[in-house]
Amino acid sequence: MPDYVPGLEGIVAAQTEISLVDGANGRLVYRGYVIADLAEEMSFEEVAHLFWFGHLPNRPELDGLAAELSGSRSLTQAAAAALDALPKDADPMDVLRSVVSVQGVRHRLEKPNVPAAIHVTASFPTVLAAFHRRRQGLDPVKPRPELGHAANYLYMLTGTEASPDLVRALNTYLVLLADHGMNASTFSARVTIATLSDMYSAITSAIGTLKGPLHGGANERVMETLLEIGEADRARDMINAKLKQHERVMGFGHRVYKTEDPRATILRRHSEALGRRTGQLKWYEISREVEKTMREDKPDLYPNVDFYSASVYHMMGIPIDQFTPIFAISRMAGWTAQLLEQYANNRLIRPESEYVGPPSLKYVPIDKR
Ligand code: SDX
Repeated sequence: MPDYVPGLEGIVAAQTEISLVDGANGRLVYRGYVIADLAEEMSFEEVAHLFWFGHLPNRPELDGLAAELSGSRSLTQAAAAALDALPKDADPMDVLRSVVSVQGVRHRLEKPNVPAAIHVTASFPTVLAAFHRRRQGLDPVKPRPELGHAANYLYMLTGTEASPDLVRALNTYLVLLADHGMNASTFSARVTIATLSDMYSAITSAIGTLKGPLHGGANERVMETLLEIGEADRARDMINAKLKQHERVMGFGHRVYKTEDPRATILRRHSEALGRRTGQLKWYEISREVEKTMREDKPDLYPNVDFYSASVYHMMGIPIDQFTPIFAISRMAGWTAQLLEQYANNRLIRPESEYVGPPSLKYVPIDKR
């Protein structure tokens, strides 16, 4: 029996061609391309094509995928009814998990394949934007086929077309978070599809896993911390107080990166640029003060992808409880690509556990206990 490894730290659970997370050197590679070369050049559709079809698309291929995605944005009647039935104060991640699950009822017989991946990926922005409108007492905004994935989400959220700057910033974010090796939510998706269950069940597992604050939920907690701090000159004392209480400062640390998360490097730049452009530099300045304090007190902890994405989203006008759902919009490209990879060369994922309970006890009938 091999030794028990808490959290499966360092255990290789699959071989993948989708992404390489080089924790020692702080490098993230998508199918051979270094993320720094892609993030500010590509749209979500391009990175999804790279994952699903194995190569960067030419113009006709990209237009074809964009048309497929925009043609698959509507919800089934049952899913739309489920969305309307949910309480207005529900957590959008619970709404996403529930409505995607209902959306899947009609498709449970579909084999996991790229068309199914496109279909389920396309519906995420529709679910999230429609719920956000509903909870404001507004009617959902119909998707516009000519708008891309990022632009259409922002449009359905507000009813007005977002500026090209905003769309570019969201596309960069969606590319940066599209995949990340064997992270917890991808592992959930792989475990589920490895039983030969269906794609919607695997994606529902992944959404539930991403929600946790140790994983995708961290970005919302980061924004709450920045709001609590309020001014840059309060950051040091408040962070030191948290550390003294042995509290985790969300947005720092990573299971794999032992140096700066390359996505944080790009998002730090975007946070500063967006702060200057929107006159909200304070959120970047508070973030920088938090980072300086953490680097001094916890030199082994670096900002991860969730730290600077919080201020970027906030300055884009995204509601805090939509932060993690946007992470899910992006990671759908990686989740679906990786579960297709698992399905194509499958073996049931079933690790061992080491029994440490009592060796053997004698049964005592209930009237003698
Ligand atoms: C994501 O896996 C991925 O690839 C995920 C992700 C992706 O793209 O899919 O990159 C996205 O989930 C990023 C991580 C977002 N989560 C957070 O920001 C939450 C805060 N960070 C952590 O809780 C923690 O750093 C983890 C969960 C991310 C990683 O934790 P590990 O590898 O299990 O490390 P650990 O919990 O054992 O911590 C080691 C030490 C501990 O100190 P001791 O108890 O040994 O004294 O570091 C400390 C921890 O207390 N520590 C922190 C800390 N993170 C770790 N102390 C303060 N603040 C923190 N944020």
